[in-house]
Amino acid sequence: MQTIHVGLIGLGTVGTGVVQILQQQADLIAGRLGARLVLKRVATRHPERARAVQLPAAQLTGDAMEVLQDPEIAIVVELIGGYEPARTYLLTALQQGKHVVTANKALLARHGRELFQTATALRRDIGFEASVGGGIPIIRTIKEGFVANQFLSISCIINGTTNYILSKMSDQGQDFQDVLREAQALGYAEADPSFDVDGIDAAQKIALLASLAFGSWVPSEAIYTEGITGVSQLDIAYARELGYRVKLLAMAKMAGSHLDVRVHPALVAADSWLANINGVYNAISLRGDKVGRNMLIGRGAGALPTGSAVVGDVVDVARNILHDSSGRVPPQAYQDHSLQDVPLQDMDEVVCKYYLRFQVADQPRVLAAIAGILGEHAISLESVLQKGREHVPGAPVSVVMMTHEARERSIRKALLAIATLPTILGKTMRLRVEETEEE
Ligand code: HSE
Repeated sequence: MQTIHVGLIGLGTVGTGVVQILQQQADLIAGRLGARLVLKRVATRHPERARAVQLPAAQLTGDAMEVLQDPEIAIVVELIGGYEPARTYLLTALQQGKHVVTANKALLARHGRELFQTATALRRDIGFEASVGGGIPIIRTIKEGFVANQFLSISCIINGTTNYILSKMSDQGQDFQDVLREAQALGYAEADPSFDVDGIDAAQKIALLASLAFGSWVPSEAIYTEGITGVSQLDIAYARELGYRVKLLAMAKMAGSHLDVRVHPALVAADSWLANINGVYNAISLRGDKVGRNMLIGRGAGALPTGSAVVGDVVDVARNILHDSSGRVPPQAYQDHSLQDVPLQDMDEVVCKYYLRFQVADQPRVLAAIAGILGEHAISLESVLQKGREHVPGAPVSVVMMTHEARERSIRKALLAIATLPTILGKTMRLRVEETEEE
């Protein structure tokens, strides 16, 4: 049986999972592939460190160049994360005639175009299934499974940390900071959680998915991104009363000649598919013009789920090597000449329903003043919710208004005007309501 040599750079959580899978599933994979995958060299910063996997000392090196320049290695797996030296390693591997596999969404979001163009020019494969949604095969689904479709929309819960926090806040009534501390203790949230809770991780992931689905490069920094730090227990409780759950959504869809791509917390109907994805699970809901609505659900992180996606890519690349068909599926799943530059939609143009929570003085004519300003901006109200007077005298009370569909620009201007009212005693909370279930 033929042998295909693999090199690995990075032996952290995911790298360890990849080694375990390659070791434990060696026979299963050989039976499916028709060749043996042999992990020849593993580069890690601390080759001497004890690990959860057994590797012969001779296989380990502290020098990534020993992987990149090994003529026998056909596939290089990069799992070190970050921008540099990961970018240089991948470009070097491609230039050395190797195929590459990476889980590095941050790198792809920033330098994906360069890496994809280099791989295409050199007719080498670049696998990146593990960069979005951990073990969920979303990249392959968009690139291959749904290749016969125009994508109508992608709506996802694509960050496990924030989904865990929001689920706990909803189901156990805990506050953001308490759940965050708990998530950190359990290893679900990073010591510096800002990348996740500020929505940056989700923006990088939806940038990649949108780039594949719509054949246009979407820069993640240009995406409107709002995290979950402003979502309070109060908002979650009001949302529940109104029949919604609060989720951090990452979304992409065509809006006329523009691409509407955004990440922000949103109210989703409590009986919708996405509302019921809880804990660290990720879900990607896709609508194709022929296939209709689909949803993929699974573990978005972790050594073995993410390792499973990495090894899936390695097998895919190996199949192409065996059949001399490398580059069979272009990195973005579009031929170069049909890639476009579709501009992103200005956030001010977005139209949706809004949840507005005002903190007001409990006195006559407050509601009329707010409703008057909303009316002046052509914003029509669907419902108003105010709790009974159980508050401390003089302290602000919350008033929640649900609007009919309105344009973001109008909401923004109306809220600026409302903020100048003397009866407004705190920052107004504005959450968008997303109807994710339309056919
Ligand atoms: N930090 C990510 C999450 C997992 O919380 O979903 C890796 O992409």
